[in-house]
Amino acid sequence: MAETHQEIVSVLTEARVFPPPQAFSQRALLKSMEDYQRLWDEAARNPDKYWGDRAREELYWKEPFQTVLEWKPPHARWFVEGRTNLAYNCLDRHLATRRDKPAILFEGEPGDRRSITYGELSTQVNRLANGLKSLGIKKGDRVGIYLPMVPEAAVAMLACARIGAVHSVVFGGFSTEALQERMNDAGAKVVLTADGGWRKGAVVPLLKNVEAALKTMTTVEKVVVLRRTGDSLALNDSKLLAWDALVKDQSDTCEPEWVESEHPLFILYTSGSTGKPKGVLHTTAGYSVMASLTTRWVFDLREDDVYWCTADVGWVTGHSYVVYGPLMNGATTVIYEGAPTHPAPDRFWDIIERYKATILYTAPTAIRAFMRLGEEHPRKKDLSSLRLLGSVGEPINPEAWMWYREVIGGGRCPVVDTWWQTETGSIMISPLPGATPTKPGSATLPLPGIHAEILDRQGNAVPKGQGGLLFVTQPWPSMLRTVYGDPERYVRTYFSELPGKYFTGDGARTDADGYFWLMGRVDDVVNVAGHRLGTAEVESALVSHPRVSEAAVVGRPDDLKGTALVAFVTLKQGHAPSPELKKELAQHVSKEIGAIARPDEIRFAEALPKTRSGKIMRRLLRDVAAGKQSSQDTTTLEDLNVLAALQQNDE
Ligand code: WT7
Repeated sequence: MAETHQEIVSVLTEARVFPPPQAFSQRALLKSMEDYQRLWDEAARNPDKYWGDRAREELYWKEPFQTVLEWKPPHARWFVEGRTNLAYNCLDRHLATRRDKPAILFEGEPGDRRSITYGELSTQVNRLANGLKSLGIKKGDRVGIYLPMVPEAAVAMLACARIGAVHSVVFGGFSTEALQERMNDAGAKVVLTADGGWRKGAVVPLLKNVEAALKTMTTVEKVVVLRRTGDSLALNDSKLLAWDALVKDQSDTCEPEWVESEHPLFILYTSGSTGKPKGVLHTTAGYSVMASLTTRWVFDLREDDVYWCTADVGWVTGHSYVVYGPLMNGATTVIYEGAPTHPAPDRFWDIIERYKATILYTAPTAIRAFMRLGEEHPRKKDLSSLRLLGSVGEPINPEAWMWYREVIGGGRCPVVDTWWQTETGSIMISPLPGATPTKPGSATLPLPGIHAEILDRQGNAVPKGQGGLLFVTQPWPSMLRTVYGDPERYVRTYFSELPGKYFTGDGARTDADGYFWLMGRVDDVVNVAGHRLGTAEVESALVSHPRVSEAAVVGRPDDLKGTALVAFVTLKQGHAPSPELKKELAQHVSKEIGAIARPDEIRFAEALPKTRSGKIMRRLLRDVAAGKQSSQDTTTLEDLNVLAALQQNDE
């Protein structure tokens, strides 16, 4: 928590309050704090009734449920006897009234554009669903998705959901090694990929990465390849199959698989405090209910909105707020493939102007990058279509919040800072834009039915104003159900701090109004430019290099990325530090995990400071990493030796 010291100081002095603009509230779904309070009380008084009502409102049920919740801590089953299908809820349900409404407005990085209606999307999904069936995919089978941000990524997810297959999307920025580890852990039978995707004018070689893993992805029988970046597809392995060829002769209709509420929907890998990423498992009904509900409430979604969430489908934000939440609501969702500043710094603003986007949901790191690029870029474009702004992924500093509100939102759009996690499945703490007065830097209040509390390690409530650990003390429908293949890790990671209470891994405090102020991770997870990384993962990548003996990776505050990665590395006997080796190690991490995990700084040391029991003293390293921030001249080696010596003497 010490890392975010500066931020906390500015946040502590933050006293500005912005009530929802009257004109916004009047038209909003939830118009006042009385509305919020009423729902909150209702949910607290009778959670079964509250969530049961929500579930009946949000979803079409093939079979109704009788039991809202079966809670055997820490295991929850929601809407137990019900049967539904998420693809049906995203597509078929809308066909009578929205067949010709755009479901997806797509823009590729090179400038290619497509508008896909609900009718068209439905057909594409059915054809692919039938194609997957023809490959032998059945209910419960796992399917990997490793695609760029193109409409087919959504088609792929929905096709899986339609037939009850469990998707596991791997972010296109992850490397061969990362892909292979995830596909093996999930036991994926089929992988859906593309020849490549566009990013900053270059091709991300997805197919090449998949091909390099073909032999080691032991459960993968077929790889379906979409043509995106090349003129033709070169498929040089009998496992490879062209997407077009697979869907060409398939039927346009496909009966949905009516799955039980608790049928697994997807596995999404995320970083934890140990080396191996966790496969967070979400199930069908509970996840769907909350993704749908929160999209409508938090973004005050209306029929004519053009909604743009800039996240990649490789992250949970892309699952819940690019694909499922908006489509369940029959909304028009914008998908943009590429980098925010390619080919020019105004690319985002250009997109907003062209599609007349009304809602923008993006990450603080992007906002800070735009701030740095200068106001002239957004000022050139017509952003008057915007009516609501959202932020997600890390704490937003008040300066960035104000800039977002004023420069992008023209001072008229409410800003919703939404706190949640891969594990929570959907937004948990957030303003309701027509109701909640906002304060720059605060995610404000838990949504009705969400019991967020700040406790100490003994489970005592922490007084207002003081920092503590953020727990969710009651189950909620879109909570993760387990860590795939490792049920004990589920219990250990989330429910061992305080039995029966979900530990978020975040530090937070509340203010006098009960507003939540998130203070960052308290475990060995860091948030680099909105991407969640486990320091242990980066360490094990470094240690897998033949010259590295030991590595310790810590976060350091960074104006742009929120947190930057600093790696302290000791070398094996006979190897000398050099600038070339630094480069090589950074490259090695990119190869093992992906460019997002590439350390911003590598420091060679002769020894790492450790406790007598051999634990690396991370807090000390964090101080070293942060302390050297402003100095150009890094006498790392000596500093560390001194520290190491000091510590050894101490013990
Ligand atoms: C971690 C979860 C949730 C989708 C994207 C990230 C941090 C997320 C906020 C926010 C402060 C935030 C937390 C959380 N975080 N949103 N609005 N304010 N911190 O999902 O990769 O699972 O990361 O992101 O530290 O634990 P994720």
